[in-house]
Parts: sequence; structure tokens; C-alpha cells
Amino acid sequence: MSPEQIMLIPKIENGFVLDHIPTGSGVKVLNLIRGHAELNESVISVGLHYTSRRLGRKDLIKIQSRELPQRFLQHLSLVVPGVTIKRVENYAVAQKIVLEPPELVDNLLSCPNPGCITNHERGVTTCFHLVRREPMKFRCNHCERRFALSELENRLKL
Ligand code: CTP
Ligand code: ZN
Repeated sequence: MSPEQIMLIPKIENGFVLDHIPTGSGVKVLNLIRGHAELNESVISVGLHYTSRRLGRKDLIKIQSRELPQRFLQHLSLVVPGVTIKRVENYAVAQKIVLEPPELVDNLLSCPNPGCITNHERGVTTCFHLVRREPMKFRCNHCERRFALSELENRLKL
């Protein structure tokens, strides 16, 4: 590639790179970031539709913050299970983790079942368990219905 064809997102000094985001899900992750007030002041850079050997195409998001809040990570593992998080310190990748889907989803989602008690009684928290991995299915502890991830990802309690 000639230099005029190359456009890079700058490297970051400190922060996190969310890598290997399935292309199309980068926008969902941006919405999630917007929903977490602790990250509202952080500098964010976004790359969409990058060529990737593993995925064909991928999205990538860099967050310049000291920490990623625990609840943000839990939501992230539901929106993009399998995402790679790279911690950057002094311009170098210091740590890589692959974010696995959670076995237990404790009060992070509302139940899609309108008849579920968790949608009627105030103060009742929700809880879902991972009951199947391929394809991924979660079961509500209260109404015992099973849901695919696609039915839950727009039910995040922010
Ligand atoms: N990165 C960054 N700032 C730095 C260092 C790295 O933004 N100071 C970003 C790079 O832009 C790149 C990713 O972190 O997106 C590089 O991570 P690295 O694990 O070094 O890359 P690969 O070896 O390609 O990783 P993988 O095999 O996981 O794809
Ligand atoms: Zn339910």
C-alpha cells in the first residue's frame, strides 16, 4: 500500500483496545460506552470494517481511561462475547484478555418476558444463567424462559 492509502488510528499511551469486535457490533459497543457515565470524558477512537485475518472484517475501539468499570465489562461480555481487551501502558500492550460470556448474569438485564414478575414488582432484581453455549442461551431465574443473546442485548440495565 502506498502511504497515501494508509490511515491509522494513533497508538495510545495508556488505556484499552477492544479488538476483534465482529464488524457491525462496534456501534453497539459505542452505545454501551455512552451508557456508562464513568467513560463519558474518556478519549475514544473507533475503527470500523478493518481487514482481519481471523474474522475477515472487524471493528476496533480504543478507550483512553485508567480503568474499565466492572459493570461495563459485564455488559461488554454480553454485547460482544469473545472480544479481546488489550491493556496499553506506556505505549506497549501490557495485558491481553479474551472476555468470555458470563455464566451468571446478575441484575445486568431486564427480562424480555412482559409477564415476568421482575417486570412488575419493584425492587426485584433479575438473574439469568448461561444454559447453552452453541448457540448461546440464557435462562431467567424467575420465569424460567430461555433467551438467545440477540433477545437480551437490547435489554441492558445501564
Ligand atoms: N495499540 C495501540 N496503542 C499502543 C499499542 C498498541 O493502540 N500503544 C493497538 C494497535 O493499534 C493494535 C493493537 O493495539 O490495534 C495491537 O495489539 P497487539 O496485540 O500488539 O496486535 P496483534 O499482535 O496484531 O494482536 P492479535 O494477534 O491479538 O490480533
Ligand atoms: Zn423472566
